[in-house]
Amino acid sequence: MALQWSSALSLGVPDLDAQHRELFERVDRLLDAMLHGDRAEAPQLAAFLREHVVLHFAAEEQLMEDLCYRDAARHAAEHQAFAASMIELDASFRARGATAELVLRLEQEVVAWLRDHVYVADVALGRYIHATLGADASWA
Ligand SMILES: [Fe+2]
Ligand SMILES: [Fe+2]
Repeated sequence: MALQWSSALSLGVPDLDAQHRELFERVDRLLDAMLHGDRAEAPQLAAFLREHVVLHFAAEEQLMEDLCYRDAARHAAEHQAFAASMIELDASFRARGATAELVLRLEQEVVAWLRDHVYVADVALGRYIHATLGADASWA
């Protein structure tokens, strides 16, 4: 497994954690498929991401608003940029199929997303949630 969700990435909010976990599993599946020269996984991941970004980002942004999170605007701007990129990529897959160039771009963007956003901005949000709500954030 190249990329794995771990409890260090937990926000303490079950729904959001489950969504992150699924994202990691799907990206890992893409990387495995690419290793085997299988491009079919890529358009499926792009289609999933198109839905995932809408639901997941809305939930995270609502939570940031509810908790008066200071860094909410910057965090949401990163969401917006990634969502726009995924919508565009999904449309490209539908129009052109799983070309090598699109598969590679998707791989680079989702891996960078996990590394630069989930591991950094989401982890910082998780720390804030834990500090604000304590161990029990299950209401959220
Ligand atoms: Fe997230
Ligand atoms: Fe986020």
